[in-house]
Amino acid sequence: MKVIVADDYEIMSREAAKIVAAEIRKKPDSVFALPTGGTPLGLYAELIRMHKEEGLDFSRVSTFNLDEYIGLPDGHESSYSFYMYDRFFNHVNVSRDKIHIPRGLAKDPEEEAATYEWAIKRAGGIDFAVLGIGRNGHIGFNEPKTEFGSLTRPIYLAKRTIEANARFFDGDPDSVPRQAISMGIRTIMNARKVILLASGPEKSRAINQTIHGPVTEMVPSSVLQLHPDCTFFLDRDAAGELKPSPNGFIPGSGTRSMVY
Ligand code: F6R
Repeated sequence: MKVIVADDYEIMSREAAKIVAAEIRKKPDSVFALPTGGTPLGLYAELIRMHKEEGLDFSRVSTFNLDEYIGLPDGHESSYSFYMYDRFFNHVNVSRDKIHIPRGLAKDPEEEAATYEWAIKRAGGIDFAVLGIGRNGHIGFNEPKTEFGSLTRPIYLAKRTIEANARFFDGDPDSVPRQAISMGIRTIMNARKVILLASGPEKSRAINQTIHGPVTEMVPSSVLQLHPDCTFFLDRDAAGELKPSPNGFIPGSGTRSMVY
C-alpha cells in the first residue's frame, strides 16, 4: 500500500486529481468507480479545472457511482445523482450514456443491484476506483460486518453513517434514508487500481485501523491491505494517528509518500 500525506486538503485533492488525469491520458476509455460526500469535492473541482484549462478529455470515460440512497424523490438535492451532475458531470464532457448511478427509485432494488453489477462486468470491469471512507471504516456503503465477498446490493445504513450524513439533509437525521444500493466489497476489490481519499481528524482512527489494524469485516476498509494496487491520499489530520512507515518516506513538494 502506498500512502501519500499532503499538507492540507487542497494539496491532497490536487495530488489525487493528477493520478486520475494520468489514468485518463493513459487509457482514455477507463472505467471509474466514483464516490460522493464531502471529501471528493476538491478532487472534482480540480478535474473540472483540468478539463477547462488543460483540455482533459472525459468523452470516452465510463463512470459507475459507488452508491445511491433508496427512495429519495427524483431530482432530490441530497440524492447522489443530483450531487454528481451538480458537482461534476455538468462541468466536464463525460458522455451521458457512459454515466451509471444505481436507480434508488427502482421498483425492485435487488434486481437493480444485480443489473448494476452486470453492467460493470459488461463495461469490462472497473479500471480505477476512487473511494472515500466513513468514520467506521465503511467504503461505498459497506458498513462494518459486510462480507468481503459482497457484490452490489441493497443495504441498511449504520446509525453512525445516518448521523454523519445528516449534514446533507439540513442536519436532520430523520430525513436521511435508511437504505441505499451500494457496490459490494468484492465489486470494489475487483477494480484494477484503487485510491482512497480521507481528510480531517474524524477520519484518523479509521485510517489507522485500515492501514495498521487486522484485516477484518468489522473495519471494511481494512480489506484494502489485500489489494495489489491501492494508494491512500490523506491530509495531515487524517494521517494523525498513523505510525511512521517501516520503509521511511519519500519527501515531495507539500506531500510525503510512504510505503507499507
Ligand atoms: C459515498 C461513499 C461513502 C463516503 C464516506 C465518506 O459515495 O461511498 O463511503 O465516501 O461516507 O463521506 P465524506 O466524504 O462525506 O466524509
